[in-house]
Amino acid sequence: MVQASSILDRFLVLEMVRVTEAAAIAASRLVGRGDEKAADAAAVEAMRRAFNRMYMDGTVVIGEGERDEAPMLYIGEKVGKAIGTGPRIDIALDPLEGTTITAKAGANALSVLAISEEGGLLNAPDVYMDKLAVGPGYPPDVIDLEKSVRDNVEAVAAHKGVEPGDIMVCVLDRPRHEKLIAQLRAIGCGIMLIADGDVAGVIATTNPETTIDMYMGSGGAPEGVLACAALRCVGGQFKGRLLFRNEDEKQRARKWGITDLDRVYDLKELAKGDCIFAATGVTDGSLLAGVKRLPGGRLTTQSVVMRASTGTVRWIKGEHRADRVDN
Ligand code: FBP
Repeated sequence: MVQASSILDRFLVLEMVRVTEAAAIAASRLVGRGDEKAADAAAVEAMRRAFNRMYMDGTVVIGEGERDEAPMLYIGEKVGKAIGTGPRIDIALDPLEGTTITAKAGANALSVLAISEEGGLLNAPDVYMDKLAVGPGYPPDVIDLEKSVRDNVEAVAAHKGVEPGDIMVCVLDRPRHEKLIAQLRAIGCGIMLIADGDVAGVIATTNPETTIDMYMGSGGAPEGVLACAALRCVGGQFKGRLLFRNEDEKQRARKWGITDLDRVYDLKELAKGDCIFAATGVTDGSLLAGVKRLPGGRLTTQSVVMRASTGTVRWIKGEHRADRVDN
């Protein structure tokens, strides 16, 4: 059996871009068509086909849901054309991160995945996660989920050398964040409210051009793990705590081996060891340009792929022939 650790970087890095490109191109046909489910299904099917062309023994650890609720790319599904013989890879995926964005032709929809050696990615249940993130360049533990919003903003501001009111925080625009937003307003922070897509929101903290310093608030736990895989590659800090709305959600977490339900997870507990993160834009956003259809049946994509062990980040612009894209 080939160990994933020996070849995770050798051929899988660029292969992963093929997978997110395929999903993004498929979803892009449904941009602005008002049908979230159709867009998601197109991305899922294309991603699954692309995985199944790859020489690997892949296991979906974060996917479209549990086996009884998702027909494809469900948690535990094996993908790849070398099951039992190829490198054993764990996969966290979101073929379409931002289904509503896509349906409404909004900004920041992505096709995204992360792979790791076996056991490298937390098997996060599909529950909410309280998230706190900051980009690279700060001392360890500058952010702390146990501390107040004000303490966190003040700590980041002090290390950045600015006033707390100069900090820009990205928050999902949700009624549940009313209190958080009021606390940030009281400090005088800038708040960038996003409609959806907190993977891109967290990653935006790593890019000074976005002007976003911090990410705060709750969103999907699977998206938290995906964002952590990216931060492992480019730097930054992340703290996350699972949030449970009922007993059923707690049971789901226990099923995946999570015993301490109140635990605050650090970046390296959510994505550990070597990992690769890949994303392709579906619609234009802060991280990537979306799929464009050009005259003459050509399509362009923009993707990013990065690897934790080296910190290499590759930006890839793809040009595709619409009549030859295998979707
Ligand atoms: P989908 O692509 O599954 O619609 O997720 C979009 C998203 O905005 C995520 O980025 C985020 O983590 C989650 O939804 C937040 O959930 P909710 O919409 O319930 O607040």
